[in-house]
Amino acid sequence: MTDTDIYLDHAATTPVDPAVLEAMLPFFTARFGNPTSIYGAGRDARAGLDWARGTLAGILHCLPREVVMTSGATESNNTAIRGVAWFNRLNSGGNHIITSAIEHHAVLHAVESLAEHGFEITIIEPDAAGLIEPEAVANAIRPDTCLISIMYANNEIGTIQPIAEISAIARQHGILIHTDAVQAAGALSLDVDELGVDLLSLSAHKFYAPKGVGLLYVRRGARIAWQQLGGGQEYARRAGTENVPGIVGMAAGLTLAQRALVERSAHQRMLRDRLIDGILGRVPHSQLNGSRDHRLPNNVNISFAGVEGESILLDLDMHGISASSGSACATGSTEPSHVLLALGISENLAQGSLRLTVGKDNTVAEIDRAIDTIATSVQRLREMSALVT
Ligand SMILES: Cc1ncc(COP(=O)(O)O)c(C=O)c1O
Repeated sequence: MTDTDIYLDHAATTPVDPAVLEAMLPFFTARFGNPTSIYGAGRDARAGLDWARGTLAGILHCLPREVVMTSGATESNNTAIRGVAWFNRLNSGGNHIITSAIEHHAVLHAVESLAEHGFEITIIEPDAAGLIEPEAVANAIRPDTCLISIMYANNEIGTIQPIAEISAIARQHGILIHTDAVQAAGALSLDVDELGVDLLSLSAHKFYAPKGVGLLYVRRGARIAWQQLGGGQEYARRAGTENVPGIVGMAAGLTLAQRALVERSAHQRMLRDRLIDGILGRVPHSQLNGSRDHRLPNNVNISFAGVEGESILLDLDMHGISASSGSACATGSTEPSHVLLALGISENLAQGSLRLTVGKDNTVAEIDRAIDTIATSVQRLREMSALVT
């Protein structure tokens, strides 16, 4: 990235905040000990880990012991879903899981793997705006349902789901509820009591902290068959020496993000609205995907008729602008986004979609340049395809 480059892919990842890096650095060098060692260097690292666990628990409004450190949300989602399913299988519990069609692949592929082992899965379809109706979840509940997993906010279209309402339904039936809250961090409250969830996943690199570290909140009493076996770390729930610098960075990053939530959200919302209005105003035959009202402050997802999203992306890249088509993990594949298809958007239109996610450091000037570049690119690509056809 050069100084003139414009980064509009904060849902994919974010740069580490200099203050976060500063908090992490001592744990690579002077405080390098293994937190399970009993001597001074170990205790020093343990103090950092304990601080991070307490800080994260404070933000989630839970007990420190309810926070399990992981390698990121992919692991957290897998642990939550497979862990609850296998615990139930081994204890003659329920065999049925409810999730939605617009979840991240870390959830969808986890439930698909369970289906191969005879678990039964109900996938709830969203409405055309990308929202999951709590009533649809209630209607899907069966006597053998053991888990409901519905994401808090979508990574592609930014829609915010009514998690507290869905949790209330789960509770009435005594069913565990998990939420993938990765995209909500820094934008929405992560208070697990307000949300009413039993399990919640986060990934640090989405809030200006490092990659390869995350957490799974597990409410006391929630029963799980732990997936990663070995040493007794994380109160014998997730084996493996903890990534102490990463965990300290995660706690520092989430503290800054939640503290600046109102201010950052207002700034991002202003940039988001400018982008949406600017693009829709300048580019004919373009449409916003996902609810405009129940939407993350940083997310723009627009489809352009008659153009390939990948072609726009390449053009933007040549102009120093980073964006995404569909989810980052799907980039490079020619499959249209499963999220856009679930909204009822045609394959062609889904292929012509662009996701732009703003961050705390983007400026109005950058947004205006992005609008210009996108409008020019779409027009040029349309003219080229008109020449070809
Ligand atoms: C909603 C959501 N869930 C899970 C993940 C997986 O996170 P990670 O790749 O950090 O494990 C992502 C990352 O893009 C995401 O956006």
